[in-house]
Amino acid sequence: MQRRDFLKTSSIALSYIGFFGVLPLGAKENHLIGFKALPASTQDAVIVPEGYEVKPLISFGDPLFSDAMPWSEKKIIDKNRIINATRVFGDNNDGMALFPLNNNRYILVVNNEYINPEWLFSDNGKNMDSSKVAYEQNLLGVSIFEIKQTKNGFFKVVLDSPYNRRITAHTPMQISGVAKGHKSMQTQADEKGELILGTLNNCANGQTPWGTYLTCEENFDNFFGASDSNYQFTQSQKRYGMKARSNYGWELDCRFDVSKNPNEPNRFGWVVEIDPYNPNSTPMKRTALGRFKHENVEIVLSKEGYVVAYMGDDEADEFLYKFVSKEKFDSKNPKKNKNLLEEGTLYVARIQGENLSGEGEWIALNYGQNGLDSTNGFYSQADILINTRLAGSIVGATPMDRPEWIAADPKGEFVYATLTNNKKREMADAANPREKNIYGQIIRWNPKGKNHLNTKFKWDIFLLAGNPMQYPNDLRKGTSNITSENMFNSPDGLKFDKFGRLWIQSDGDYSNKGDYAGMGNNQMLCANPATGEIKRFLTAPIASEVTGIAFSQDYKTMFVGIQHPGEKLAPSHYPDGGDSTPRSTIVQITKKDGGIIGS
Ligand code: FEO
Ligand code: CA
Ligand code: CA
Ligand code: CA
Repeated sequence: MQRRDFLKTSSIALSYIGFFGVLPLGAKENHLIGFKALPASTQDAVIVPEGYEVKPLISFGDPLFSDAMPWSEKKIIDKNRIINATRVFGDNNDGMALFPLNNNRYILVVNNEYINPEWLFSDNGKNMDSSKVAYEQNLLGVSIFEIKQTKNGFFKVVLDSPYNRRITAHTPMQISGVAKGHKSMQTQADEKGELILGTLNNCANGQTPWGTYLTCEENFDNFFGASDSNYQFTQSQKRYGMKARSNYGWELDCRFDVSKNPNEPNRFGWVVEIDPYNPNSTPMKRTALGRFKHENVEIVLSKEGYVVAYMGDDEADEFLYKFVSKEKFDSKNPKKNKNLLEEGTLYVARIQGENLSGEGEWIALNYGQNGLDSTNGFYSQADILINTRLAGSIVGATPMDRPEWIAADPKGEFVYATLTNNKKREMADAANPREKNIYGQIIRWNPKGKNHLNTKFKWDIFLLAGNPMQYPNDLRKGTSNITSENMFNSPDGLKFDKFGRLWIQSDGDYSNKGDYAGMGNNQMLCANPATGEIKRFLTAPIASEVTGIAFSQDYKTMFVGIQHPGEKLAPSHYPDGGDSTPRSTIVQITKKDGGIIGS
């Protein structure tokens, strides 16, 4: 879009009803949101609306097994503490999902995205050594544990349940799909390229109709470095953000030193499928879904039963993706369903339009098509899957403002995606309509013919986040459904409940100053897609992010993730108070009258 078009767009009425011009879920849902909205907050607390109660379920370091040491403020890292890290709830909880058992019992599966060395170690992680690295490697991954509802309606963790399990940076995982065995997947420790140790930077998640959990590997590059200062990073390694010094000092472990193990990073950046009902199952890295910085996976079934998985790659100017399975889901054939993510077609989005709406298409990333061949450095389908970002650029995918979560409405008609922000954007376009986008937006699309197999779709912008008080006269004010009462920045977590409420979680600037004045701490909001109404439902502690959401089957308990309170040594003591170390925590929320959350 040219500069003058950008200005023209800024003067149009910014309507949340947008391109579709119709209410996607029907006007009768006008009264979907029943609670009284919260004001912005800068308090060191989780606050929920009047008539609701909130309570921690579990915090970083809490035991999953009775033989684990309880959480301790002590920062001594010895052998016992390193082993203990595999027996407790990991750090930085992010995406999560509930898997029902019976009698108000569930398995809760939670990603542990990364670690906060500034809080883990007495030197704030300034001088890393192999013990500290080993401790961190055991604190991330995935935590799986049973929870049970008690008489007061709240849930508690069931210690020592046979389902309880920790998955870490060392847990063996199989490679599935055509990248299995490829030479780029082979290492000294795994000459066949078939078995990987661990999963890294598990951001958000997905849940399959056949009862498995999908954990998404996002910023894996943060864990890799190169000890040899002469090491030359390849074009692909650079595109994935690889650099000489890792963020965490893990190149002390030679597996994470790319100058010694150049293929090890190729074994991360995947979607990993886990069967939580079988604690002995081996997680599967699903290479058919491509390698990038995966945020989450939202699955819808096409009318015919094909599995359609929508995914975003969270980095400035990266892409939106869609996977379609080769085989159909068959509820009567659980054994076959287990491998539906083994094979299929991966597509990337090309998006066009004007005035915040338009059309788009999904372009297949197939070897031999659209320039994906040896002339551009691709020698097989495995090459394409391992270097998905490069393939997306070759076929002309549209660079987006950092795709985060994707959520489909309960009818499976509209698919929404958060584009969190993109401070690097130099040229606005239809779907990413602001240069130096500091606030983010939510885009939505529906496939032509309401058929998710269709490669054509229509789209519009559901909301542009913004600050109408600071910038009343241009696109930075946001769409008309953003007001001084509900403003926020950097939408990230996104999920529909079964009634059609759209829950939006923020991971943005919490300074409450300047461009962000009036927004307060990070928060969770509830939107009515039929009317565009947006109300603030939860405000989070100091320097935390709200990420991860799950509901009990009756929708009377909501689980919400509070990640990294007090990051970078900000003055939070959540949840324990006093002068305690802040800890990432999952909270549970109920309505005092026992009603449906949000009603
Ligand atoms: Fe882990 Fe893109 O957030
Ligand atoms: Ca995060
Ligand atoms: Ca996120
Ligand atoms: Ca984010």
